Amino acid sequence: MTEPAASRTILLVNGPNLNLLGKREPGIYGATTLAEIESTLTARALERQYQLVCFQSNHEGAIVDTVQQYGWVASGIIINPGALTHYSIAVRDALAAVPAVTIEVHLSNIAAREPFRHHSVVSAVVRGTIAGLGPAGYVLALDYLIDLFDRST
Ligand code: DQA
Repeated sequence: MTEPAASRTILLVNGPNLNLLGKREPGIYGATTLAEIESTLTARALERQYQLVCFQSNHEGAIVDTVQQYGWVASGIIINPGALTHYSIAVRDALAAVPAVTIEVHLSNIAAREPFRHHSVVSAVVRGTIAGLGPAGYVLALDYLIDLFDRST
């Protein structure tokens, strides 16, 4: 499979309500804040000479704009679309439009939760999905992307 030309930039996108991590339903989403996830990933990326661009928004259009802005600049995208996962055709179409390799991450195991969370409209256009592993899912996604890009350069 041909990978996109290697820029050493990876985009991390978090959708609605993920700014509340740490105090939002900690029994489901854990105690780790988004700032902690972003700084862990930023440091891990830097160790391997990659730059991580971190973005969070509660607004669908802002997420579409950011995917469009970085989708040709970054080699990879890690995205937790939050509730947009389940209904945003606009986010799905933006991800499908860009060449960056995308990994979908969910902190919780969406397949084991309410039926309306079982379907992701995004999953069909991403390289893979990690769900239910908490913050470790983001780390695994980052390691996967960097290993992939380092192998293909
Ligand atoms: C989530 C799961 C979604 O169903 C939910 O709306 C979220 C977070 C997760 O990380 O587990 O906001 O994407």
